[in-house]
Amino acid sequence: MGKIKCGVVGVGNCFAGLYQGLQYYKEHSEKEVIGLMHQDMAGYRTQDIEFVSAFDVGSNKVGKTLDEATYAYPNMVNWIKLPKSDVIVQESPVLDGVGKYVEDLIKPVTNKPIDQLKEEIKKHIKETETEVIVSYLPVGSQKAAEFWAEMCLETGTAFVNCMPVFIASDADWEKRFREKKVPVIGDDIKGQIGATIVHRVLAKLTQDRGAELDKTYQLNVGGNSDFKNMLERSRLESKKVSKTESVQSQMKNRIPDENIHIGPSDHVPFLKNTKLCFLYIEGRQWADIPYKIDLKLDVDDKANSAGIVVDAVRAAKIALDRGYGGAIESASAYLMKHPPVQMSDPEAKSALEYFIMGKEQKTG
Ligand SMILES: NC(=O)c1ccc[n+]([C@@H]2O[C@H](COP(=O)([O-])OP(=O)(O)OC[C@H]3O[C@@H](n4cnc5c(N)ncnc54)[C@H](O)[C@@H]3O)[C@@H](O)[C@H]2O)c1
Repeated sequence: MGKIKCGVVGVGNCFAGLYQGLQYYKEHSEKEVIGLMHQDMAGYRTQDIEFVSAFDVGSNKVGKTLDEATYAYPNMVNWIKLPKSDVIVQESPVLDGVGKYVEDLIKPVTNKPIDQLKEEIKKHIKETETEVIVSYLPVGSQKAAEFWAEMCLETGTAFVNCMPVFIASDADWEKRFREKKVPVIGDDIKGQIGATIVHRVLAKLTQDRGAELDKTYQLNVGGNSDFKNMLERSRLESKKVSKTESVQSQMKNRIPDENIHIGPSDHVPFLKNTKLCFLYIEGRQWADIPYKIDLKLDVDDKANSAGIVVDAVRAAKIALDRGYGGAIESASAYLMKHPPVQMSDPEAKSALEYFIMGKEQKTG
């Protein structure tokens, strides 16, 4: 089916995990790729994904080759040695991308006025024939996320929005993507064995088994720049909504707000890319007798999201091939925390299977 030419916005830790993993599977083509829905999705394999453009703001990343930028501070993924890339990281406008807690980690370049950057970015997307943009912008980058959604609309590039600013799940933005026939998959990637999916599945289990779920929390800690940035509570609003609604959507009746607490909770530097999730559920069974679930999840946060992005990129490319625009609901529901339409995970998986087979598509 050919290659999928991708661009990345935010050459941070998530991208480093994705990019190094792609290289790992290139070097081990005999291995089954772990973390995917299918090895072959409508003719596209992991090895078909190539990054042809990249955008960031870090002065130690912009102007560097993509392999160099992938290891640049404060990135922490160092799983594999990458070959020299001929992709040079381009400047993106900073806007609200760098929060106050990461100002000591990210020194942004602010060389060019935004109108000039806009034109240069559009030209670069065209010249590199970028078909799908993957956004790994930091939490709280509302303006930067909207800037990149606009760039996708203006260049006809599909958008995979891995972060929690609502684009695919916002009716106005979705309409604009639909009208321009540009696919968008979002918002906020759902990790493979992440806190959200584990919490959703357990919450759904209580419902499917007829138990009451009275109270629940999910506390998350990690040691990378994503967690450091999330110390700034004013940047967190959409992340909390995204994570909380992902669990609420699995309930027959909403859990009252005072009985559900979900969110990033603290930054513990020595954890680095390890994320710990402390998950608690309490409720009642027969005759109001209580039960409790107390669980600790310990995962590498960057290995957690990469396979899901490989599926999202391939779904976006399938949508482009088939001329679909707007939110790809099935892929968004299965792969993202805050899709335009929430489904249970098994429903979302079958909807995506239908989409891949070309049997179903909602274009808005
Ligand atoms: N499992 C996961 O890791 C996971 C799951 C869901 C969502 N996410 C989201 O993915 C996003 C990326 O996470 P990460 O760990 O890679 O973060 P990170 O801090 O390592 O990387 C962010 C990158 O964005 C760059 N950046 C900042 N402002 C920019 C701008 N205006 N334009 C272009 N680049 C800019 C930074 O320089 C940095 O390289 C976050 O929003 C995170 O919440 C991650």
